This record gives sequence, C-alpha cells and structure tokens, in this order.
Amino acid sequence: MNKSDYIIRRETINDYHEVEELAREAFWNLSVPGCSEHYFMHVLRQHKAFVPELDYVIEINGRIAASVMYSVSDLTDENGNKKEVLTMGPICVLPEHQRKGLSRILLEYTFAKALEMGFDTVINFGNPDNYVARGYKSCKKYNVSLEGDYYPAALLVKELKEGSLAGKKWVYHQNDADAPCDDAEAVEKYDSLFTPKVKAWQPSQEEFFIHSHSAITW
Ligand SMILES: CC(C)(COP(=O)(O)OP(=O)(O)OC[C@H]1O[C@@H](n2cnc3c(N)ncnc32)[C@H](O)[C@@H]1OP(=O)(O)O)[C@@H](O)C(=O)NCCC(=O)NCCS
Repeated sequence: MNKSDYIIRRETINDYHEVEELAREAFWNLSVPGCSEHYFMHVLRQHKAFVPELDYVIEINGRIAASVMYSVSDLTDENGNKKEVLTMGPICVLPEHQRKGLSRILLEYTFAKALEMGFDTVINFGNPDNYVARGYKSCKKYNVSLEGDYYPAALLVKELKEGSLAGKKWVYHQNDADAPCDDAEAVEKYDSLFTPKVKAWQPSQEEFFIHSHSAITW
C-alpha cells in the first residue's frame, strides 16, 4: 500500500465506537463464538496500564481500517528486578483490508514511537504466523516464561533494541486489563450496544485452542 493511500494517526474519542465496530468485524467468531475484543478496548482505554500515546489507527478514504493498542506489563528477572515492557494488543484490520500490509505499517510505526518513549521490548500472545515477519521470536529464545517455567507457544517477544533481554531469565507478568472480559454477562451487555451478529463455530477456533494450549518444552 502506498503512503498516499492511508493516514496513520492517534485514535481520538470520536473514533471509539468505529474502532470497536472494527474490532468486532475482525475478531467475530475467530477464537470463540462471538468475541470480546470490543469490550476489551472499552475497558483497556480506562486502565492504568494503557498507553494512549501508542493508540493508533489507520484511516482509508475516511474510514478506520486498522487499529492497535498497547499497555504496560512487567518482566521480573532472577533477582526480582522489574523491567517495564509493552504488551501489544488488540491489533485488528477490517476483513476487506487484511493481508495488504496494514498491520505491518501499524506495528513498524508504533514500534519506532515506543522506542522513542524508552521501551525496548514488546510482548504479546498471538498466532506466530502474524508476527514472525515483524521480528518477533518465541518467548523461549529470550528466556521469558510465565510463572512455573512455562513457555507458551503463543507467547511472542519482540526486542525493539537488540540485546535488551540478553543474559537473564525473565518471568512475564501481564497487566490485568483484560480481567473484566472474563465476565461473560458484562461482555454480552456491552455487545448489545452493537448491531446483532450471529455467533457460530469456525475452524479458526480450533486453531486458537491448539495455539493457546501449546507450550515450547525443548
Ligand atoms: C492479524 C491481522 C492483524 C494481520 O493484519 P494484516 O494487515 O492482515 O497483516 P499484514 O498484511 O500486515 O501481514 C502481516 C504478516 O502476516 C503474514 N501473512 C500475510 N498474509 C498471510 C497469509 N495469507 N497467511 C499467513 N500469514 C500471512 C506475513 O508474515 C505478513 O508479513 P509481511 O508483511 O512481512 O509479509 C489481521 O489479519 C486481523 O485483524 N485479523 C483478525 C484479528 C486478529 O487475529 N488479530 C491478531 C490477534 S493475535
């Protein structure tokens, strides 16, 4: 996509509903029947870990086509020292604009901004297919685990500054911004503010189950 074909800019309060509609279009039935990402955006923007300076959208012909958000989480080393890192997500692109490079544009742009802000690492759970071309690696490669020496296959790490995680063993403590999404009733209530959509099974939900229940063990 040519630079003249799109505008990349910060999300404003006037965009909130359109961005959440976009999330709903992109995530609906992808990981589970329905989705909660639009509700997640709604609660994330109000959470103390949210980073508004990295809340970006891409606009094409006056319509928002892509969105990315970040929050702050912690890594702890073997000595208990904490390091702040960015948790990326949600990221989403309108279905009709997917696979045209918009997430690449959003990520590369916001990674550069994040580096300017002093962050050197981005971490998120996700389908590796979407991230390895952006330089993300398995958490195992950087010795970043969850509590209990557990290395999820879907836990992906991007060093914005090469070597920033080198020489240490880290435990990732993700912020709790997504905790409200466990409340199915709250998700349903929020979803009722949007145009009704049909919940259904699709094969990507099995792919999600496999990715989210897999670990790197050697
Ligand atoms: C995942 C998503 C954000 C990717 O955005 P996108 O703009 O479609 O992605 P891009 O076109 O920038 O491609 C990103 C990378 O995905 C990979 N990719 C592209 N097309 C692909 C395909 N058909 N199959 C597998 N991987 C593909 C490539 O590695 C590409 O990197 P490259 O630009 O170096 O080739 C978008 O598809 C989306 O919104 N999906 C639904 C919501 C979602 O899954 N969000 C992420 C949750 S983890």
